[in-house]
Amino acid sequence: KHYGVIMAGGGGTRFWPLSRQAMPKQMLNLSGKDRMINETIDRLDGVIEKSDMFIVTNEKQAGKMLECVDGRIAKDHILAEPSARNTAACIGYAAMEIVKKYGDGIMCIFPSDHFVKKEAAFKEILGEAIKAAEEQDKLITIGIAPTFPSTGYGYIKFDKKEDAIARKVEEFKEKPDLETAKAYVESGNYAWNSGMFVWKASTILKKFERLLPDIYECLVKIGDAMNTPEEENVIQEIYPVIPKISIDYGIMERSSDVLVLSGDFGWNDVGSWDMMKVIYDADQNGNIIVGDQVNIDTTNTISFSTGKMIATIGVDNLVVVETEDAVLVCSKDRVQDVKKVVDTLQEQG
Ligand code: GDD
Ligand code: MG
Repeated sequence: KHYGVIMAGGGGTRFWPLSRQAMPKQMLNLSGKDRMINETIDRLDGVIEKSDMFIVTNEKQAGKMLECVDGRIAKDHILAEPSARNTAACIGYAAMEIVKKYGDGIMCIFPSDHFVKKEAAFKEILGEAIKAAEEQDKLITIGIAPTFPSTGYGYIKFDKKEDAIARKVEEFKEKPDLETAKAYVESGNYAWNSGMFVWKASTILKKFERLLPDIYECLVKIGDAMNTPEEENVIQEIYPVIPKISIDYGIMERSSDVLVLSGDFGWNDVGSWDMMKVIYDADQNGNIIVGDQVNIDTTNTISFSTGKMIATIGVDNLVVVETEDAVLVCSKDRVQDVKKVVDTLQEQG
């Protein structure tokens, strides 16, 4: 039996003003087709039953999430976290839920902020990853051939010559500095970590016990209360004190029994406004234009309107975003700093 676990507790502050606390990135419809969360769910069609999927999200977003998924996922499969404790806690909680309430099984873990262009190729590799996890009690990752020295991803070292679909991982390095990332990409021996993981729920819980005992202790308390009337109270009490660490730093970097499957399915992490280029084709002037617009002598600009008309004249290399109550005008080289706007607004209250 295998389950899907979608991690959807991130804020996505880099998509301000479209993303807000009440409307985080995973609920946005950036592609013009559907919300990211629904695209994440629907691309699993045929591999994982919707009734076997879970979404882990913040309790403040759980109600809105239930509305957004529009019947795809049942209410009792939306796991609400009293506070965000990073991805180790999120995965541990889901693993405990599966073991205690469904009697173990393979869990396939997905971020909710990715685009996948080639869905058939994606499904094929996911099927192989599930097979590998059924056959071996290992931690299965899906690696992507790197195209630039990103410092925002994890890197997986493996031997390309090994004759297996699931190859042994020699090293897992989360978010290296730029120099290291450059060396990795040049060496040709590293893949990006796609952030998707496949393993048995019981296998990852054993990892928590050995590598993250403080978190494990919290998970056991929560697990012991599951299926009892105390469950909700215990989660409210214990969850907010779970140590904050990502699965990548907490477990992946420190494990030797990791396997990687090489994926090539048009994968992209859509982290900031400049990444609209992976969703939309640019026009002949290098512009990505969404919504009602007049653009004169405009080049290399991303312009996103949700209602009002945007007009640009004689500008280059800009990001312009219009929403009902805010407008962003940003140099394309500074899109990583959009989160500073959110920080500033929060400071101002
Ligand atoms: N429920 C829940 N709770 N979800 C969370 C939490 C949390 O506390 N924190 C993050 N998430 C969700 C995010 O919404 C996202 O979908 C996913 O978990 C991954 O978190 P990110 O914060 O986006 O991680 P990252 O992009 O910096 O790094 C990870 O993904 C990269 C690929 O995109 C790592 O796994 C890297 O190694 C990997 O390369
Ligand atoms: Mg991410």
